[in-house]
Amino acid sequence: MIQAFIFDLDGVLTDTAEYHYRGWKRLADEEGLPFSREDNEHLRGVPRRESLMLILKGRSYPEEKILEMMERKNNYYLDFIKEISPRDLLPGARELLEEIHASGRKNALGSASKNAPEVIDRLGIRDLFDALSDGHSVERQKPAPDLFLHAAAQLGLSVADCVVVEDAAAGIEAALAGGFRAVGLGPRERVGQAQAVFPSLDGVHLADLLKSLNEE
Ligand code: BG6
Ligand code: MG
Repeated sequence: MIQAFIFDLDGVLTDTAEYHYRGWKRLADEEGLPFSREDNEHLRGVPRRESLMLILKGRSYPEEKILEMMERKNNYYLDFIKEISPRDLLPGARELLEEIHASGRKNALGSASKNAPEVIDRLGIRDLFDALSDGHSVERQKPAPDLFLHAAAQLGLSVADCVVVEDAAAGIEAALAGGFRAVGLGPRERVGQAQAVFPSLDGVHLADLLKSLNEE
């Protein structure tokens, strides 16, 4: 029986991509680096350092400067996410988290962001989680399975008991690498490797997830 769901945060429960974009854009402008909204799409689910590397496009900088730029972007991001409130939950997210809890199952967070706890506090959903795994929890990020394995371990459940809900290709890859079943949100070209695919969580109930995974 499915006993828990492990949710990615960005693009699944809320859309922080816009705030990450504004942070990186401000840094890129200050440094005279070209960076567009389209470029930002390639940063979905990508950890902070790797994101900067993609923006730098092979330009080389001393390590000190790299760390300073990462910190500067993060400070801008922290300023922007002060605007986040429960209104920023994506449609269907709270309802589904509540329904899972009401059924006696568990919810865990599996986000690559080091700021994930702050974001779920601002969204007002911390009390709906039984475990939080974030960018501080493991060394190897998605597509390595470590973050989701960390979440399952915190819940005290085996991989077979948990289902990962993700919107990024690297996240689906991470789930499958760990032996988890995955629910993909978004276009099939992006998340088609998952066992079940929905456009988003809007209108998706626990029964729909269970049915899509043949666990009625
Ligand atoms: C992911 C986001 O969840 O977290 C990425 O999709 C982000 O865009 C990454 O770079 C790391 O986030 P943070 O908050 O630790 O810089
Ligand atoms: Mg995501």
